[in-house]
Amino acid sequence: MNLRRLRQNSHILDLTSSVTLTPKKFIQPLFVVEGLREKKQVAGLPSVFQETPESLLKQVEKDLETGISKFILFGVPGQKTEQRNFDVSFATQQITALKKTFGSDIWLATDVCLCSYTHHGHCGILNEDGDHLENGFSVQALAEVALAYAQAGADCVAPSDMMDSRVHAIRSLLQENGFDRTVLMSYSSKFSSSFYGPFREAADSTPRAQGLKDRSSYQVSPSNYADALRSCLRDRDEGADILMVKPGLPYLDVLYRLSQEIPDLPWAAYEVSGEYAGIEALAEKGLMNAQRAHLEAWTGFFRAGASMLISYGARFAGEWIR
Ligand code: PBG
Repeated sequence: MNLRRLRQNSHILDLTSSVTLTPKKFIQPLFVVEGLREKKQVAGLPSVFQETPESLLKQVEKDLETGISKFILFGVPGQKTEQRNFDVSFATQQITALKKTFGSDIWLATDVCLCSYTHHGHCGILNEDGDHLENGFSVQALAEVALAYAQAGADCVAPSDMMDSRVHAIRSLLQENGFDRTVLMSYSSKFSSSFYGPFREAADSTPRAQGLKDRSSYQVSPSNYADALRSCLRDRDEGADILMVKPGLPYLDVLYRLSQEIPDLPWAAYEVSGEYAGIEALAEKGLMNAQRAHLEAWTGFFRAGASMLISYGARFAGEWIR
């Protein structure tokens, strides 16, 4: 059997491929930090920065020039909160500024979570004994945060906290307030992963509670596909528009299975900070070519069933894919 006939040159490879990368499918994460004097590179992620409000606008302008127009924003407040009232005004000001400057030229998603706001670094509200997150209070707070982001002009709200029924609470509150056009992208199968390291530096969101040391009591266990499936079915039924698998590369089987199992919604994959940084670190040691490795990983996400990809390298997609 001659299989190499269809591998002879780039023309025939293009024509026969089942995955065609395009920068149109990429979402670029953005970090903006209150009180920061100068933009600062995120450790392990070259070309990703903690931005100041001013540098954020410049960065987005640059990204637009390279053909990247979809973003997910992480607003990091200067002050942590002890109580249950979260002041999200820094983040909403950035959303307003971005939408005022770029309008519908950009599509702006906002990560909805409390981990950058709480002094303990967890994604919800800790009980008094500090040994678990209180679901009801957390969900109420998250829905209010999501509404504030929508009111500020976000095109999409993306809850990443993994509290139960937050999709329902957010969808209901948005609906009650007339935000029926705000897209809800749920981090529906978000695993309790070691690959979030560089992100937690950037978002200042490392869990540091006395009792509750990590996120394994609310994020999905890496060894439990059934839980990932149930989380996604639940979020679909509660009104999510887009579902997600996160991290990406160690969970391509999950992405494949879930996207087959729930084909009626579009799937996002999040190539998280640690996996992106891993490729960069190997490349820095001269052990592989960063650009080719990223393109290969990206191809894998779309082959496995992703309709869109959140990647720290989105801003290079235009240049590299060409
Ligand atoms: C917040 C959140 C996390 C990421 C996105 N939103 C981290 C976490 O759960 O600790 C991770 C993104 C990345 O590593 O790139 N809950």
